[in-house]
Formats: sequence, structure tokens, C-alpha cells
Amino acid sequence: MYIDIISAVPDLLHSPFEHSIMKRAKEKQLLTVEVHNLRQFTPYKQGQIDDYQFGGGAGMVMMPEPLAIAIETLQKTKQYDEIIYMTPDGKSFNQKTANRLSLYQNLLIICGHYKGIDERIREQFVTMELSIGDYVLSGGELAAAVVVDAIGRLIPGVLNDETSALFDSFQDSMLAPPVYTRPADFRGSKVPEVLLCGDPKKIAEWRHNESIRRTEERRPDLL
Ligand code: ADE
Repeated sequence: MYIDIISAVPDLLHSPFEHSIMKRAKEKQLLTVEVHNLRQFTPYKQGQIDDYQFGGGAGMVMMPEPLAIAIETLQKTKQYDEIIYMTPDGKSFNQKTANRLSLYQNLLIICGHYKGIDERIREQFVTMELSIGDYVLSGGELAAAVVVDAIGRLIPGVLNDETSALFDSFQDSMLAPPVYTRPADFRGSKVPEVLLCGDPKKIAEWRHNESIRRTEERRPDLL
């Protein structure tokens, strides 16, 4: 999969994909993330990419021309399955959307800044708008990193144990059960006996029940 990201602050996005599972996805050539500096595409002097809002009001708006040029330039070499704009007024990003996006070949993500991007770019180019939560970040970069991470680990072959993503929280609209590792007795607190019994059926049943219990307790809205 190829993910292109357009950003006014590309440095914010250099580290998140250089470690752990994202690094492995890159090394296996299953995921290529390219961050493009919006300023490279501006036709205006001194790299200008934002301007005051029409009608007045505090905060700058990202101008349409640099964004349109950036998108059109990238579209010359790739046909995007979705052009995603990260914004707090977008659709809430969740595991279902991550699953769907992980099946695509080419994604383009636009990160907003300041007051956001000119509405005409949203109307003319953007095909999907995503929010990662009901709070406002100073830009879309960290939100884009969250989305890329959630998608990247779902690409077949990225995780070593192919089945492990299937048991993630939210994968069946349920939270994951608790997990334990050695030692079996940590300062007097013992691992549930069933996990040591060696019977896969009993263990699966316990995990399923714990998932339900945890979901009822913490996120009854998911059930
Ligand atoms: N940009 C700023 N805040 C955001 C949020 N909550 N989700 C996605 N993009 C954003």
C-alpha cells in the first residue's frame, strides 16, 4: 500500500513510521509512506500557504491553490482510492474504517493547520473526512499518524502472527480480554488458573467471557 501525506509541517511525521510495526511494514515493502511538504507546491512568494479568512475572524486558512497543485501533482502518478482530510469535524475514525482502508492500494491524506483548509478543496478533491476524537489538535499530522498506524498493522503480512489483529480490541465490537505474562505469581498476585491449564477451548471461552465482561463494564455502548 502507498500512503502519501500532504503537510505544512512534514518534520512532525518523520519519526512515527520509523519504529516497531510500521518500520517492519516498510522493510517488507508492504507499506510506503511519503510525506510531502505543502510549501514545495505553492505558486506564491516566500512559500505562502495560508491567508486571512474572508469575512474576518481569528486564525488563518490554508489557501486552495497550493493544496490543489499538490493533489494534482501527486494524482499524475497515482490514482487514489480515497483522498482523506484530517479534521475534527470529520467522521469518527474507528476500527471498521481502519479495516476498510487497509484493503486499499493508494491513499492520500491531507493535514490541516490553523483554522483548516479552504472549503473548496474539501468540495472538489476530498472524498473522506476523518476525526480521531472530539478534541482539537494543532494540526492534522498527529491524527494522520494515528490513522496510518491503525491501517498499517492491518495490512496482511505486516504482523508476524497473522491472527493477532483479529483479537484486538474493537475487532468484534468488543474490548480485548486482559493479558498476562511471566511470572505466574507477581508479588502475590496470580495469573488466572485457566490460562495455565493448557486447554485451548477453555482458554478461548475464558477470553471470550472476559471480553464481554470488560466491554459491559467499560464500553456498554459497543454491545
Ligand atoms: N485536526 C485537528 N484536530 C483533529 C482531530 N481531532 N482529528 C483529526 N484531525 C484533526
